[in-house]
Amino acid sequence: MEKLLFATFIFSLFGLSSNCQNTFNPGEIWLDSNNVHINAHGGGVLYHQGVYYWVGEHKVAGKAGNKAEVGLRIYSSTNLYNWKNEGVGLAVVNEIGHDIERGAILERPKIIYNKNTKKFVMWFHLELKGKGYEAARTAVAISDAPEGPYTYLRSYRPNAGVWPLNYPDSLKKVTFKKEYKTWPEKIHANTRGRFLHRDFENGQMSRDMTVFVDSDEKAYHITSSEENQTLHISELSDDYTNFTGRYIRVFPGAANEAPSICKKEGVYYMITSGCTGWKPNPARSAKTTDIMGEWESLGNPFLGEEAETSFRSQSTHIINIEGKGEQFIFMGDRWTPENAIDGRYIWLPLEFIDEKPFLNWQNTWSY
Ligand code: DGJ
Repeated sequence: MEKLLFATFIFSLFGLSSNCQNTFNPGEIWLDSNNVHINAHGGGVLYHQGVYYWVGEHKVAGKAGNKAEVGLRIYSSTNLYNWKNEGVGLAVVNEIGHDIERGAILERPKIIYNKNTKKFVMWFHLELKGKGYEAARTAVAISDAPEGPYTYLRSYRPNAGVWPLNYPDSLKKVTFKKEYKTWPEKIHANTRGRFLHRDFENGQMSRDMTVFVDSDEKAYHITSSEENQTLHISELSDDYTNFTGRYIRVFPGAANEAPSICKKEGVYYMITSGCTGWKPNPARSAKTTDIMGEWESLGNPFLGEEAETSFRSQSTHIINIEGKGEQFIFMGDRWTPENAIDGRYIWLPLEFIDEKPFLNWQNTWSY
């Protein structure tokens, strides 16, 4: 914390602010226009009418930093380098028992814009206060303006009472045991859907998540479900604030977290991480031409030194740079759970060779 304050002080002393920044410097302190390190972790970026909006988790200093004391913060920028703090887009509530009561966990927020309703729709992962990561809900809020304030709508475990579109009838009839003793038995049961069955009536778990609006304006919710063992991709309703009940399982039993997605030349690419808490692990990538169809696994997109820790980062979002054709930026977090507010941002150019995404380290770069 002291280091962060000291660096902020030195930067402001010499008048160095992000206002004059024209490069990305992954892993370094990233000052906003008030010379304060940007506080928008696990976030996403929406482009709307000439402005980028970055929403993320506002973390506080110290060990309790992952509990939401403030809410979800929003920044704006016209060039992706220099960011202005727009304030708290969705604030925690000081009411005992409220879903987003102060002290709950609000993670990985993303904003999408619905052209028909003209509403900005924010989705995020919600864990109820005092319950650790047990609730595993997805939550939604809406606003008339990208920077908020957002009105909280609801949270839940989605897709209650419906089977995934790609779940075979033969598996619907299987009776799973409550516990499995050996790893191979566990993995086999997870892959075949033991948690899908367990949560069938009350809704499927939803932890790490993102949302994606396709070129035909249909929106999708992508989440780590089934005790983080299997990804679910669900179609959202026309107003983007609900689930239609159409969803698929992706990479059953492969334990993917931190989904991020983009589309280039008609191909969808996803970058995810493995499941190791706050510790980094080798990322994974995948592609498909049908978002609700079969996904093909492509392996770790990170190259070179520290590729096995994804340059000590975890994916959160992929930005399509406006006006640059299909040019993308990978957005990742370098978590610092011992002092969450000091978490750093790893933004790198996402490169493609023969329909395969790659990430190379750069100390400093620009687009
Ligand atoms: C990894 C996830 O990607 C983070 O968003 C967070 O939920 C941590 N796990 C908690 O351990």
